[in-house]
Order: sequence, then structure tokens, then C-alpha cells
Amino acid sequence: MCGIVGYIGPRDATPIILNGLKRLEYRGYDSAGLAVLQNSHIEVRRDAGKLARLASLVEESPVHGQVGIGHTRWATHGEPTARNAHPHLGMTGEVVVVHNGIVENFLELRDELKAEGAIFKSDTDTEVIVHLVERYLSSKIGLAEAARLAFSHLKGAHGIVVLSSREPDKIVAARIGNAGGVVVGVGEGEMFIASDLPAILEHTRQVVFLESHQMAVVTRQGLKLMTLGGKPLRYNVHSVAYDPVAAEKGEYRHFMQKEIHEQVRSLTDTIAGRVDFDNGHNICLPELNLTAELAKNIQKIFITACGTASHAGMVGKVLIEHIARIPVEVDIASEFRYRDPIVDKNSVVLAISQSGETADTLAAMEEARRKGATLWSIVNAIGSQAMRIADGYISMQSGPEIGVASTKAYTAPLVDLYMLAILLGDLRGTLDARAHRRLTADLRLVPDLVGRCLDREAAVEKVARVLVNTSHCLYLGRGINMPTAYEGALKLKEISYIHAEGYPAGEMKHGPIALIDRSMPVVVIAPRDPWYEKMISQIEQTKARGGLVIALATDGDESIAGLADHVLWVPETPWLLSPVTTVIPLQMLAYHIAALRGLDVDQPRNLAKSVTVE
Ligand code: AGP
Repeated sequence: MCGIVGYIGPRDATPIILNGLKRLEYRGYDSAGLAVLQNSHIEVRRDAGKLARLASLVEESPVHGQVGIGHTRWATHGEPTARNAHPHLGMTGEVVVVHNGIVENFLELRDELKAEGAIFKSDTDTEVIVHLVERYLSSKIGLAEAARLAFSHLKGAHGIVVLSSREPDKIVAARIGNAGGVVVGVGEGEMFIASDLPAILEHTRQVVFLESHQMAVVTRQGLKLMTLGGKPLRYNVHSVAYDPVAAEKGEYRHFMQKEIHEQVRSLTDTIAGRVDFDNGHNICLPELNLTAELAKNIQKIFITACGTASHAGMVGKVLIEHIARIPVEVDIASEFRYRDPIVDKNSVVLAISQSGETADTLAAMEEARRKGATLWSIVNAIGSQAMRIADGYISMQSGPEIGVASTKAYTAPLVDLYMLAILLGDLRGTLDARAHRRLTADLRLVPDLVGRCLDREAAVEKVARVLVNTSHCLYLGRGINMPTAYEGALKLKEISYIHAEGYPAGEMKHGPIALIDRSMPVVVIAPRDPWYEKMISQIEQTKARGGLVIALATDGDESIAGLADHVLWVPETPWLLSPVTTVIPLQMLAYHIAALRGLDVDQPRNLAKSVTVE
């Protein structure tokens, strides 16, 4: 996924674009660039690597103007070099383009354009777009129409912004399919364009979201919205909330560490207003639009998501099946979208996504829509597509998550799924009043239990020092904490680059136990839950093979303390909520190992905060 920013107005565009890109750098940090209209001439500055390199380049050779576009890249086609960095300037030097997405038919378009005399200066798929615009831009055809005709050739999903020195009073932006959003910010005599809200919220809270297959012609005075067919469209200006403090690291070294420590607040916020503790502990999820009739007619729930969100989905399956007795299938979105799933009008497809812009998850939602299912989503990013295209949604209310490795947006959906399961159980009559009261009362414990886990960071850091030089690590879990093993391994993989694998503990003896020796640390997730006894024998089997055991155990569990080499303690937690506390030490363990290895924890190599390409 890439980050895009555009500005047109009376102020100097350069600092506005650089600041906006700074707020979007978590979306891709392979290279960055900007183009500004200076003295009716397009000036481009771009470089490989982090945004800081672009900022120093602009310092060395300044560029100023009132209209400009910028880009921070997550490379898909063409290495992360300055030559492949956006913006891409056309042969006339009068048109420049930034792009988010993949032009799936760029090879044939490139050959076509080369045959017409176009000279390509990069290895990117994006460059075909600027040559296509130049093909149509002529005395008779203006920029908007030329861009529209160019877009009609593109296969795949895209967010595109085009600027031309021929028509310096406008910027053209378009969104085709699910390649991350395109949002236009409405200011006083100035307008902003971005691929995500954080880039423009310090300037305006009035925004227009482009839907799929729409384009906007943006001038200082406002915007004209139309379909890619050219049909004019009316639009709604949304007012969105913004908390500038949330976008700062505060006293923490990294956003990930800050977001791990924000979980007491984020979980308090995700529960807030959703359990009426003064009135029968009723669960209120108004944006879900869940009626008793719908609840009763649900025959099956499909949970679909990617990465960390899919691990939350796996916990959701245990919660909904146990509490509401509805069959649940968890599907990785990139598989769900192509496997022709047996989904119909009595099915609910629940998508989970922090960013709400992950291409595979959105495509899975569209597939579900096509098959007539009811579409729900659990989303963190306000105004994102997964929130807008669903029939009902639950907002995670975790606040912006900037660290690429998701933490607070993992624990929040665990609690949202817990509340959803109770509501479904209530509406389907599978939950009696006493069980309802006990389950909702347990929710009140969550913020304090998580706070107590966070207070033990120093002890976790000690274990991190033991593992800092390992090159492998195995995570084992069972039942409701099997996904915790997957999540712990994913956190370690994505920020410390250590090969880590999460595994259903019961499967060990069917193969992976062959990996065990003194050099293989094994994190065994063994809180007091219905699978506890099984996990004890798992520890014994691992010890019998000479494995180094790091056990995650419930306070006071002396038997595990006697068995394991190291113990990460968590407070006693009701088992249906135990994945919320068991994951905290694993988040901190991965964080400290990566920090001790001196790695870029918030922007790990080869990753992006939300993957908007297939
Ligand atoms: C998690 O730490 C990763 N950033 C990644 O696996 C992520 O969970 C996945 O890409 C899904 O993102 P989403 O929740 O924004 O859809």
C-alpha cells in the first residue's frame, strides 16, 4: 500500500505535502517523492528510502508552489529505487502521476505505448498511466477527460492523482476498486487529497470519500465528482473527529510500545457504551443493525480477514460457537474470495480489519455480497471502506494504530466478538439470564487485568534478553488460545525477522516435535483454561526433547514454574477472555526482542500497515 497526498490552494504546497506523507509513512516506506507546480513548471523531487531522505533533498534543492502531489511507496513492481519512486513525469514534462495499487495489464499497455513512441524511464507498472494521459491530452481534450480515458484502460484496483502544468488550476483524483481509499478534504479556499485521513485532518475535518469507480476534479473552490463514465454525481461531506495527540509517540520509543500500553484505554473504550451495566447488562451494538429476526435466521457465520485480524477471527469462532451455538467458519480472505464458498442469504459474513482497506478482505466482502449474505464488519479506521460497505459494523474504537505490527487492534476485536457472541446468544435464546450476567460482569475485569499484564514489562524484557539471538521460535497453544500462538509468532516474525511458527499444540507429535532441541525456544501458552492439563503434558514432552520452554502461565501456578525454563505470568482471567491477557506478554516479548536487536519496530522491512494490493 502506498500513501498519497495532494494540495491546491493559496499556501505553499511543499510543507503540507511533506507533513501529510509523514502521517502516511506507515503505509509504505520504500521511497518517496513529490511534484509541485513552480512558475507553471512541474518540479519533481524523489528518492529511495524513508521520507527523511526526500525531506533533505527538498532542503538541498527547494521547490515551492501552490499546487502539488506527493507519494510514499510500498514497492510491488520495480525495485525500491529513486528511478522507480513516484511521482512519474510524462515525456512532455507537463503531466505527473502518483498511484496506489497495481496496473494488472501494464505489460500489454507498455508495449502498446512503446509502439506509439513512449519512452519508459522506470520499471514500474504505474508509469503507463502518465503516458496514457499524455496520449489523450490534446488541444481538444482537457485534463479531466484525458485522465478519464486513460483510467478506462486500467485493470486492477487503483488510487490515482494526476496534475498537469497545462491546467494548473485543478488536480484529478480517482478511485477504481479496492486499492485503499481516496479522500478529498474541503478547506476554506483550499482543497486536500489523500489516501487516508491522518494526512489531512490537521487542516480540515470536512471530507468527501470517493467510492469505487469515481473520479474528482479538484480546484481551489471545491470538487466535481463523477463516475468513470463521466456522469456527474452528488456527494456528501462527512465531518470526522481527530485527536492530534493520538498521532504522537509521547514518552514511548516506538508507536508499537505506546499502542501496547494504550490497551487499558482502548479496551475500556471498546466496551464503553456497549454494555448497559445499570439495565440488565444489555449489550448495545447499534451500528450492527442486528434484529432478533435476523439473529434467529442466521444459519452460519463466516469470519474472513487477513493476518492478525484473522487470528482474532479464530478466537471469535470459539466464542460465538460456545456462547451463541451458531456454526462459524474462519476463512483467510485471500482464499475466501476465490474458493466459491457456500454462502447464501441465511449466512452472515463478518469481515475483521484494522484499516478497513485491506484489498483481500474487501474483495471477500464483495464476494459475500454477490452471494446474498448479510455483511458485517469489525473495523478500527473510521470511514474506511469495510465500514462503509457493510450492512452493519462494530467499530473497534481503539484510536489510530500507527505501528505496522497490530496490537491494540487485535485485543479490541476479541472483546467486540465476545460482546457479539453474548448478543447473538441473547437474541437466539441460547444464553440464560445467569450466564448472561456472569459473562457481561467478566467484561468489567478486562481493563484491570490487562493493566496488570502491562505492569510486568520488565519481567518480559528479561526473557527477551534470553531469546534476542535465537533464529527460530515455536509457539504452542490449544483451544481458545491456539490463535494466541499464531499471533505471538506473527508478532515476532514481522518485527524481529526471527523465523517463528505458531502451532496447534496437539499437532506437535505429528511432526514439528522433530524440530525440538536445546536451540529451539518453545513458547507454550498454558493459562488455566479448559485445555490446561493438555498443555502441561505438552511442556513435559518438549522438556523431554531438551527444548527451552518459555511458559505463559496463570499467577500462582507453581507446577508450571517447576517445569518451565522461564515463565511469563498473567493474572487469573475468565477463560473465554483469556486470549486478551495471554497475548499481552507475547506482544511485549516480540517488541523487546526487536528493540534489543536495534530494528525499526514501527516500520519493519517489506511490510505496510494495510495491504491494498492483492
Ligand atoms: C499485523 O500486525 C499485520 N500488520 C498484518 O498481518 C495485518 O493484520 C493484516 O495485514 C490485516 O490488516 P487489517 O486488519 O488492516 O485488514
